[in-house]
Amino acid sequence: SKQARIDRIKATIRTCPDFPKPGIPFKDLMPILHNPDVFSDTIALLEEHVRETGTKVDVVAGLEARGFLFGPPLALRLNCAFVPIRKAGKLPGETVKCSYVLEYGQDTMEIQQSSVKPNQNVVIVDDLIATGGTMAGACRLVETMQANVVGCLAVVELDYLKGRDNLKYAVHSLIHY
Ligand code: PRP
Repeated sequence: SKQARIDRIKATIRTCPDFPKPGIPFKDLMPILHNPDVFSDTIALLEEHVRETGTKVDVVAGLEARGFLFGPPLALRLNCAFVPIRKAGKLPGETVKCSYVLEYGQDTMEIQQSSVKPNQNVVIVDDLIATGGTMAGACRLVETMQANVVGCLAVVELDYLKGRDNLKYAVHSLIHY
């Protein structure tokens, strides 16, 4: 069942206390990729959600770094493009930049100008939504490209940080803490 698949994914996620700083309970999702059945279920559940929305997707945009693990296999399953959104200074050619808010301070992310066309439907994927600042920045980038954010996807969402309150699009996460 769907719940059994979700439970098995959740059982592989490790909580690492005090990483990278004291007081932060870090969710380590890497064990998902250690088991091909669990990894496959993770991608399948994301795909099933997108298909259930009934919206045609042109682009899966993945957020550096761990959105790069889940985005490309999802894009393959949806038979659409994968586009990376990177920390500033990594992508050649014309880019669009956007600054976003972190827990302490801010950073800049960017996307290649020609990688998303106006009016394309874009699903944004990351491993985890915490404060939602990273996902909100990615949404603004897609808006700047005059494309449509048709969904924000994550494997894990930390509900107690209320990140989805910062997002004006449909948010779907497989696992909630
Ligand atoms: C983590 C995580 C998300 C983001 C979520 O990435 O992978 O991208 O933080 O936090 P937020 O919802 O509060 O914005 P991180 O900034 O550690 O970058 P990395 O994946 O490149 O290590």
